[in-house]
Amino acid sequence: MNRPSKRRPSKGNADNQRFPPKPPGVNPRSVNTSDPTTLKPGDIELEMGIPIPGAIQPKEQWTQTAIKRLPEAPFVWPDLFGREAPVAMDIGCGNGRFTISSSVRRPDWDHLGIDALPTVIRYATRRGNQRGLNNVRFAVSDGWKLLDRLLKDESVDEFHIYHPQPFSSVEDSSRRMLTPQFLGLLHRRLKPNGKVFLQTDRKPYWQYITSCFSALFDWEEVLEPWPEDPHGRSRREMLSQNQNLTIYRGIATRRQGVSLESVAQIVAQMPAPEFAVVRPQRRLYRP
Ligand SMILES: C[S@@+](CC[C@H](N)C(=O)[O-])C[C@H]1O[C@@H](n2cnc3c(N)ncnc32)[C@H](O)[C@@H]1O
Repeated sequence: MNRPSKRRPSKGNADNQRFPPKPPGVNPRSVNTSDPTTLKPGDIELEMGIPIPGAIQPKEQWTQTAIKRLPEAPFVWPDLFGREAPVAMDIGCGNGRFTISSSVRRPDWDHLGIDALPTVIRYATRRGNQRGLNNVRFAVSDGWKLLDRLLKDESVDEFHIYHPQPFSSVEDSSRRMLTPQFLGLLHRRLKPNGKVFLQTDRKPYWQYITSCFSALFDWEEVLEPWPEDPHGRSRREMLSQNQNLTIYRGIATRRQGVSLESVAQIVAQMPAPEFAVVRPQRRLYRP
C-alpha cells in the first residue's frame, strides 16, 4: 500500500484569497446565483463570490443535460455521450459545482452527476444546459442503486464523492452511503487504475473511510486544497472553508490484482459505519 503523502495542513483560505480575478476574455458582468433568470450570454455565474467555470451561452447553443428517465440496463457510455471518452462520475453532486467545473476544464472527459435530491439536480442541469456542455449529464438517483444496477464492471475512470451526507446519530448510521458493500461496488465498477476522490469535514466519518478504503485501494491523503479550486471544489467545501473547518481529502486508486472473491472477503470483514458524527465547531479564529 502507498504511504499517505503528508503535505501542508489545510486550514481554509485567507479572506484576501476569496475573490479571484475574473477569467479573461468574457463579459465582465458576473452574477450571483440567487436569481439565475438574470443571467445573460457571456455572464460568469458567481456562487458565494466565486465563479462557476464556463460562461453563459446564447440560448440557441444551450444543451439538454438532464437524464429524465434512467435506463433499465447498464449505461453504455458512447450511446449516452456519442463518443468514446474517459468517464468521471460525481455521486451526491449537489448543485453541480464540481461536475460543471470538471466538464468545462476537461472537455475530453465525459461526466455523470447524480443526486438523490431533485431540487439540486435542477440547479446542476440548468448550469450544464446554459453553458452549452455536451460532455455532462445529470440524473436524480440514489447512488447505491445506480452503482448496483446501472454501471458495468470496470466502466468508470473516476468517482468523486464530496461531503457525503454524514447523518449524525448512531441510529441513522444505516442511511450512510459509504458502507463496506458500497466500497466493494466502487472497486468493481472502476477501471483498472481508476480513482475515487473523497472529502468530508466530519472526522469520525473520515477515519472510518480511510481505514476501510486502505483495505482495497492505494490511498493518498491530500492535506491542502485542490490546486485548481483553492476556494473549494464543491458548494459544501466552500461553506466549510468559510467556517474554517478542517477538510479531509483523499484519493484512492483501485488496487490491482484483487479478485472478485477477495474483494467480497475483505468487504465482509469491514465494520459497518456505526458511529456518531458530531457536527464540528465553527472556528471563529484561525490559530
Ligand atoms: C452535504 S451534500 C454535498 C453535496 C456536494 N457534493 C457538495 O459537496 O456540495 C450531500 C449530498 O448527497 C446527496 N445524497 C445523500 N444520500 C445520497 C444517496 N444515497 N445517493 C445520492 N445522493 C445522495 C444529498 O441529496 C446531498 O445533495
